[in-house]
Amino acid sequence: MKKTIILIAAALLGVACAESVKQPVLSDVQTLSSPDGSLTATFGLAPDGTPMYSLSKDGKDVVLPSKLGFVLRGNQIHDNEIFESKTKWMYDSPVSLHDGFALEGTATDSVDETWDPVWGEEAHIRNHYNELTVKLKQSGTGRLMNVVFRLFDDGLGFRYEFPSQWDFRHFTIKEEVTQFAMAGDHKALWIPGDYDTQEYEYTDSRLSQIPSLIENRCMWNASQTVFSKTGVQTALQMKTDDGLYINIHEAAVVDFPTANLDLDIPSMTFRIELTPDAEGWRGAVMTPFSTPWRTVMVVDDARKILASRLILNLNEPCKIEDTSWIHPTKYMGVWWEMITGKSAWSYTDDFPTIELGTTDYSSAKPHGRHGANNDNVRRYIDFAAANGFDGLLIEGWNEGWEEWFGQQKEYVFDFVTPYPDFDIEALNKYAHSKGIRLIMHHETSASIWNYDRHLEAAFNLMNKYGYDAAKTGYVGDIVPRGLHHYSQETINHYNHVIREAARHHIMINAHEAVRPTGLYRTWPNMIGNESAMGTEFQNDIEPIHVTVLPFTRLQGGPMDYTPGILETDLGITAPGNTAHMWSTIAKQLALYVTMYSPLQMAADLPQNYEKYADAFQFIKDVAVDWERSEYLLAEPGDYIVIARQAKKSTLNIASEGTAKLPDARKGYINGATAFAGGKDAWFIGGVTDENAREVTFALDFLAPGKTYEATIYEDAPDADYKTNPKAYVIRKATLTASDSLTMKMATSGGFAISLREK
Ligand code: NOJ
Ligand code: CA
Repeated sequence: MKKTIILIAAALLGVACAESVKQPVLSDVQTLSSPDGSLTATFGLAPDGTPMYSLSKDGKDVVLPSKLGFVLRGNQIHDNEIFESKTKWMYDSPVSLHDGFALEGTATDSVDETWDPVWGEEAHIRNHYNELTVKLKQSGTGRLMNVVFRLFDDGLGFRYEFPSQWDFRHFTIKEEVTQFAMAGDHKALWIPGDYDTQEYEYTDSRLSQIPSLIENRCMWNASQTVFSKTGVQTALQMKTDDGLYINIHEAAVVDFPTANLDLDIPSMTFRIELTPDAEGWRGAVMTPFSTPWRTVMVVDDARKILASRLILNLNEPCKIEDTSWIHPTKYMGVWWEMITGKSAWSYTDDFPTIELGTTDYSSAKPHGRHGANNDNVRRYIDFAAANGFDGLLIEGWNEGWEEWFGQQKEYVFDFVTPYPDFDIEALNKYAHSKGIRLIMHHETSASIWNYDRHLEAAFNLMNKYGYDAAKTGYVGDIVPRGLHHYSQETINHYNHVIREAARHHIMINAHEAVRPTGLYRTWPNMIGNESAMGTEFQNDIEPIHVTVLPFTRLQGGPMDYTPGILETDLGITAPGNTAHMWSTIAKQLALYVTMYSPLQMAADLPQNYEKYADAFQFIKDVAVDWERSEYLLAEPGDYIVIARQAKKSTLNIASEGTAKLPDARKGYINGATAFAGGKDAWFIGGVTDENAREVTFALDFLAPGKTYEATIYEDAPDADYKTNPKAYVIRKATLTASDSLTMKMATSGGFAISLREK
């Protein structure tokens, strides 16, 4: 439904945007209201023609007048100087694309529509916003640049559009000028700004404290480039002293570098820091072009950040016509045993270096610790099948792992040659006979050229044996050298893989790739991403971590967090490992609800699940695709309690039987919905940081008049994440919509509840 919005153009030139004395007097002021009128975005031109915007909520400043635009690389100099100086190309002085603009016109729009995602936190998503486009022309150059503002009730998205124009066909960005001027020294949950990784722990501090804290928060990573003492990553979650929650991120990063933020203190103004390419430039653009959306969410209740669909709504609708092969998946993996050091990805210690195609593995002496061997894989297949899982990931199945990272080696893997003790054909047949799909693993070691070269053959092999999902990985510095994980070319690589995978009906779960920006609306075969510290960091993960991620990393899309470690003493899993999960067992269960993902792993080993079989039952029961999500309690960095209803269409299919379903969906139906059996089913999860807490919430989201049988998994009274993490209690209860629950969580504890209609 489209309707005309109310656009208030200021009658007089010279309307000041904010009270601060420092603010320039703006002309051509345009104002846009959110559908409910609570948010106001203002655009205007400074006296020198600099485009500026601001944002307020109910009269409170959220973003003070902030600059828009770019600085462009100058033209290449084609004269003899380049030979004399023996340098590479030389360029004229940088060119401004951030001042000298005049307003040529405006356009408005308003949208209120509902769309159904292929999978998600809810079955129906409302997209409701008012839009203002300001059409700008730069005097002298005649260059055209539009800024499109979309204002939702929970935040603002804006992007730059460059219409097709003869005198501005290609340009290269030196830097983006876009600012976000904060109205105070807000509290923030941040990780260091970096061009290569998001694998950091969160710091909870005032913005002004960032420079004094950042060095201690830059833990080592196989690839990292911290660019500034005041740099932070998006999504950045802040809280103002008067209780507003502000979240800055971006949406739909396509053919453009990823944005970090760099903070100026004391003005508390963030500037976009685009990731450079190998030569230091930050984006090559061909017009017509639209940049990614820059987003500022602002709400008065933290739960509304979790409920926001702003990032998703700013992405384009699904580009895959037939999505029947895409299915949420609960899986296990021959994985945790390598992460903990119990077994290895590699096969032999025989070779000083490996040259695929030349190195002869068939005559190599196995070192005896190879995890992906036929017997072990069969054991996992049996266990996964017996417990209703859909898939099994196997890492270390292919040649090359003996020197897979640290060298920036270009030709590391071919993605098609199994180790001698991994019978790809027989194992797939065996898995399929038991209703399990094997999940392919493509560790690229960040050699993106090498992966591109082998992609078609790798996907063809998957199609041949019936794999429909691949976990990709980008550990180490990017090859070709000089590029970063967030550079434009690397972004284009990740997106190319997603599109090619779609062509082959393959779902992708990328690790160490860029953090997502809602692209899964457009490409729902992008079923997961890591792109933050996940369980593999073992006891490096502080208790606060999972109380922050849903506000930050998960805003752009689901995370393959790999929860479910029930043996929290890793020395028991892998002798010699001295790590402990800084989490209670009940909190591990809760993560299946609080960390939304259509791809959920039961990451622990079969023998550990056998040991804690009663707690494992929750992991077996929990759904992975949802009709509705209710965000019951939330404070970023402290606690989160969420209730989710299993998706109805799946429940109906489950009761009708699976006969009519495409093959790809059969495993999923058998697994995730066996518990529901056509009845209404809800799952509730609660997690806390290092503080023990008691929380109370009403169950008024349950269907009125129905009775539900609940199984409650909670921390034992004496549970504590350091001294007694494995102490849990399971009890049953009969509950209705008129009940409420009071739950106790231990330090770094939590609870998980399954509710099934009687
Ligand atoms: C890092 C990934 O995050 C992890 O899950 C994987 O096992 C290793 N790389 C090896 O590919
Ligand atoms: Ca990783």
